[in-house]
Amino acid sequence: MSSSGPEIGHHVLVFDSGVGGLSVVSEIRARLPQAFLSYVADDEFRPYGNKSEAQLRARLPNLLATLTDMLNPDALVIACNTASTTALPSIRAAVKVPVIGVVPAIKPAAEQSLTRVIGVLGTPGTVRRKYVDDLIADFAPDCRVRLKGSTRLVAEAERKLAGQLVNMNVVREEIATLFEGRHGGDIDAVVLACTHFPLLRDELRAAVRQDVNWIDSGEAIARRLDDVLSDIPVRALPPHAQMAFLIGPDTDAVRAKAFADYGFMWTIGLMRE
Ligand code: DGL
Repeated sequence: MSSSGPEIGHHVLVFDSGVGGLSVVSEIRARLPQAFLSYVADDEFRPYGNKSEAQLRARLPNLLATLTDMLNPDALVIACNTASTTALPSIRAAVKVPVIGVVPAIKPAAEQSLTRVIGVLGTPGTVRRKYVDDLIADFAPDCRVRLKGSTRLVAEAERKLAGQLVNMNVVREEIATLFEGRHGGDIDAVVLACTHFPLLRDELRAAVRQDVNWIDSGEAIARRLDDVLSDIPVRALPPHAQMAFLIGPDTDAVRAKAFADYGFMWTIGLMRE
């Protein structure tokens, strides 16, 4: 920051249950290097993938209204498939700024697949949602689509960014059913329908013998954010732009380093009563 006064720019709040949104942050920083980001991880309530729709709808609109009032961003990115496919309309109704959600990348996967057999790897919540059934019906009606929900992979991604070794047995076990059975060997595209999973892209690649495109939505979110910000004037940035807030007490130095690697200058624990 310059000493001659506040910097001018756009300020975007990125939200996820944990570190998964950092896979989206990479894409935003690549497309919009001039944007200032703050980040909130809802560690206290993670994993979202095993919560009911009612639980998520009870928590998220209120929480995001409080956070956007407090941090005053120009736009909010819900960098979480589970939250987006469950509660986007009620979050939009509750907050005063434009909201960009994640759409699982079923359309691009269907466009790329030559074998017409694709996988969708998300959280247990996401792969059960009607939202995903509708995307399949609209964009992949002629594809065989195999669904797999996993919360253990969310935990592995969290471990990786907390500086621990990823357990490759867990990775192999979690994706095995996608590739088994009569058409499993034909899968040539897998939708990473959880923002934590691009953080495990190398491990996923190493766990499968066949050639697979692992497709996420990060770039599409960055593109959409670029469109949204182009209509919003820049303004003086608040001092908390470039800070990560973790809901709960989990702010150890290793985790703070993971956020620093993605450009966040401070990582601060945010306690809720
Ligand atoms: N990263 C999130 C998603 O995209 C949520 C993972 C979780 O908390 O279960 O779905």
